[in-house]
Amino acid sequence: MRPTPPSPRAVLGDIPAYVPKPPRPPATGTSHRLYLNENPYPPLPSALARISWAAAQTNLYPGIFPERLTDAVARKLDVPLEHVLTGPGSVGIYQQIGQAMLSPGDEVVYAWPSFEAFPIVVRMAGAVPVEVPLSDETHDLEAMAAALTPRTTMVLLCEPNNPTGTAVGAAELKRFLDRVPSHVLVVLDEAYFEFSRSPDAPDGVELHRDRPNLVVLRTFSKAYGLAGLRVGYGVAHPEIAAALRKCAVPCGVSRIAEEAALAALDAEDELFEQVERVIGERERLRAALGEQGWVLPPSETNFLWLPLGERSVPVAAELERGGLLVRCFPGTGLRITVGSPAANDQLIAALAGLTSAR
Ligand SMILES: Cc1ncc(COP(=O)(O)O)c(C=O)c1O
Repeated sequence: MRPTPPSPRAVLGDIPAYVPKPPRPPATGTSHRLYLNENPYPPLPSALARISWAAAQTNLYPGIFPERLTDAVARKLDVPLEHVLTGPGSVGIYQQIGQAMLSPGDEVVYAWPSFEAFPIVVRMAGAVPVEVPLSDETHDLEAMAAALTPRTTMVLLCEPNNPTGTAVGAAELKRFLDRVPSHVLVVLDEAYFEFSRSPDAPDGVELHRDRPNLVVLRTFSKAYGLAGLRVGYGVAHPEIAAALRKCAVPCGVSRIAEEAALAALDAEDELFEQVERVIGERERLRAALGEQGWVLPPSETNFLWLPLGERSVPVAAELERGGLLVRCFPGTGLRITVGSPAANDQLIAALAGLTSAR
């Protein structure tokens, strides 16, 4: 008889895989990765130079925390050093949040559909997800406030929202934050902050200054184009930041990632020009698809959302056959990254041919 292998924790049985089924490129022809909200531009030469300089020191451990990057982020945001934390991508910081701040049975309120990491972080801690449906593809902050109970210890907000690309206004968000009791931690994920052009967009870092229960997460993966190096950061009041640091993987941000992020901060002007181009392409795509009869909410991100319901799977399959790899949420919609102009042209042409699915 084979010996029984050790069992993982029972909660893992309920945890969804992060991306259930990545789209598959066709056997022939080019394909475009439009399913992970990646930046279409390759790293800048200045970042590549610092990456290779750091790579030459790979026999050495990096610092326990990336101190120079922490310092640069604190100066950029004009916040005290002890408010800044870093992690191997912002998803790394989510794991720290789950370990440091959640206990079994805690209720965690978040909108749905929203960032796919939310149910994973919550269930991993043995906490209880309280999912509040979006309204008009946007966070329903009224309903989220109504979902708070004495057992709520955390609220997770993704603004602008992944996967719908929509955003709430600053005044509405402030009103919501004022209704959350001070002992409840609010995590505001601003992964797409740099892509927002709404005049009414909230700025989590400003909001955090007089709200000790607010943690803001941002990343170098999207606007700064460093998804492959895994580096994100957060801003929190010192007691929370110190607790999260205790749960960080030591040396979790590599020297290569730190140097590349420092180079990206030095080259913000150039990178933000690329962001402008992505925003220009986003609006071009949205207008072209709107003219074809597709209904899409406005986006403040580097992706668009097609709420196709039951048509999502067949439309995604058709796009996949043509080499356009999009993220399909079966029964709900398609999330499509704004790609290179060539990829976007191909998408416009492919969707023009799918007249019966609109
Ligand atoms: C809302 C949101 N937060 C965080 C991330 C992941 O960021 P990182 O690459 O910094 O882990 C993503 C990636 O798609 C995202 O959509």
